[in-house]
Amino acid sequence: MQTLYALLTQVSSVTTLKGLEDLRLQALGKKGLLTQEFAQLRSLSGQEKAQRAQELNQFKEAFTHAHTQQKQTLQALELEAQLKSEKIDPSLANAHFGTSLGHPLNYTKNRIIEYFTQLGFKLHLGALVEEEFYNFEALNMPAYHPARAMQDTFYFKDHKLLRTHTSPTQIHAMQTQKPPIKMIGVGPTFRRDYDTTHTPMFSQVEGLVVDVKDRVHFGHLKQVLEDFLYYLFGNIRVRWRASFFPFTEPSAEVDISCVFCAQEGCKVCKHTGWLEILGAGCVHPGVFEHAGLENVSGYAFGMGIERLTMLTCGINDLRSLFETDLRLLEAF
Ligand code: PHE
Repeated sequence: MQTLYALLTQVSSVTTLKGLEDLRLQALGKKGLLTQEFAQLRSLSGQEKAQRAQELNQFKEAFTHAHTQQKQTLQALELEAQLKSEKIDPSLANAHFGTSLGHPLNYTKNRIIEYFTQLGFKLHLGALVEEEFYNFEALNMPAYHPARAMQDTFYFKDHKLLRTHTSPTQIHAMQTQKPPIKMIGVGPTFRRDYDTTHTPMFSQVEGLVVDVKDRVHFGHLKQVLEDFLYYLFGNIRVRWRASFFPFTEPSAEVDISCVFCAQEGCKVCKHTGWLEILGAGCVHPGVFEHAGLENVSGYAFGMGIERLTMLTCGINDLRSLFETDLRLLEAF
């Protein structure tokens, strides 16, 4: 009994879970002290045997209780130590920070913003949830206008919607600034579209220049955009095609010579040698009227940042731009 109780007093001073388990085996294990003591009961009889058995059971209970408590204490200490050793400091600078060009989309967007802001264009981000008026009516697209069907729209209640293009930033700029106005509107836009070349969210850059009547004209637009395209793509050819947008007149679409096949003809340019890149034109008088401006003229343009990114960074799957795949970022 003496040695049994010696084991019991040791329990509270064991400092490791392994040591505690060793002690438990010494006391209660198959070859442990208690088993041996129970075996010796055979040599006793009557009152003595019963009393001894009771003592042994009391010991077992006391030991088990002490063991359980010490185990919980040691486990808690171990967890605490583990948490301490695994603690991270989120304020530490990332060793790689600043060595990457960032996501190709942001990289391209920033290159575009940098170019235009250096020319004096003011940056507008605008709101993603717009009034129907700013997205359509003010841009010469009344409710019955067939051009509304060109854009599948996400609608909310009360004539609100997710902007389908960045063109509403034009109207806000014209309502809040006095000419001369020179702005770009940049950011996400939304349409109910999803296939290999369309995603429900995509990004656009809008440009708007407004000044006293006849001080800006289509020639300025041509020069600004062609210079921009040479900046972005380097050695390419630019082609202007007559087109239609309800909010510009005249309207044009701009193509560049295919950056993949040097106009030999390939899948990307559908064997035409040309890639469509942006829409542009002189601001329609109806738009000025909606925005409350008189005796002014101006031009506007709009383009998709994803497409520009794919063409400048050599990325051929639009959807890969929206997957958080580190391999794409590393390759880039
Ligand atoms: N908003 C047009 C679009 O999303 C692009 C555009 C902007 C065209 C400005 C002309 C002038 O397709």
